[in-house]
Amino acid sequence: PGRLRDLAQAAGVKIGSAVRAAPLNPDPAVGDEDYRDWAREQLSTLTAENELKWDHVEPARGRFNFAAADTIVQFAHETEQTVRGHTLVWHSALPAWVSALSGDQLEAALQTHITSTVSHFGSDVAIWDVVNEPLNDSGSLRSGGSQGFWKDRLGEDYIDESFRWAHAANPTARLYLNEYGIESDSPKARGLYELVKGLLARGVPIHGIGFQTHKLETSRLSGLADSLRRFADLGLEVAITELGVKLLTPAGGDSLGRQADVYGWVTAACLAVPRCVSVTAWGFTDRYSWIPAPGAATMLTDQYVPKPAYYRVRDVL
Ligand code: XIL
Repeated sequence: PGRLRDLAQAAGVKIGSAVRAAPLNPDPAVGDEDYRDWAREQLSTLTAENELKWDHVEPARGRFNFAAADTIVQFAHETEQTVRGHTLVWHSALPAWVSALSGDQLEAALQTHITSTVSHFGSDVAIWDVVNEPLNDSGSLRSGGSQGFWKDRLGEDYIDESFRWAHAANPTARLYLNEYGIESDSPKARGLYELVKGLLARGVPIHGIGFQTHKLETSRLSGLADSLRRFADLGLEVAITELGVKLLTPAGGDSLGRQADVYGWVTAACLAVPRCVSVTAWGFTDRYSWIPAPGAATMLTDQYVPKPAYYRVRDVL
């Protein structure tokens, strides 16, 4: 039985996970050797779970701090893994100084943020989630409250501009829009489809759609391959960017088996669509996960013991 990354390569995709800088740290006093070994051996693409978000890279205006993200990018470089840069424009994880801006000042700050961040990494980060979660479940752009921050303050144009600025900072990077709730033919998926058609018609440099795919053990996913294909048919890449499958609590019956089913269906859907380039899990061990036990959404226990989901993904690859 091979390593996931070798099996994925043979299948023409990359396999990855969100990772955290602390356990990846090469200093054994800080890092976690088991975490480093597993990531190195099994994965071919990494995503910084939080370290590239705006509140991390520019907590105060003009004070950039890329140290934690650099740890991840350096590890990936040594391990011949690609990095998905996550994420440049999101209504969440904004530092307070940005939330206080509006109008030209906000637009200038956004341009500087995108340009500085993309330029800092150059070819080491060749894929970016430029815009994250722009839509309501109804398929319209988010507006109102803190979630409507970008559209309400800059107008719907902010999406076009963000992609253009990212492209100017790294013309060879693959630029993605990343979203959740688009894994079937939902109103949100339709809204996104229309949005993306508009972007393409205006010549906006967008190259891919990221499907987050945070799911539950009871999720079904029968429409996923079709949804991936619809966006791929626009000439775009697609990717599974944040796969996790939360267990119901208290766990009943064959919870881990159902979790494995969902991991397997998602992986198979990506393999069924030629333009689907990667499957990234949102964490690979419950030891470092935004959904630790009892939800336990990853493929390995907090002791790094593979669950049925790991073996299922391996079998599907
Ligand atoms: C989550 C991280 O996993 C958490 O550690 C953090 O506290 C909040 O953000 N969609 C996304 C990710 O695009 O950036 C989110 O990550 C999970 C949902």
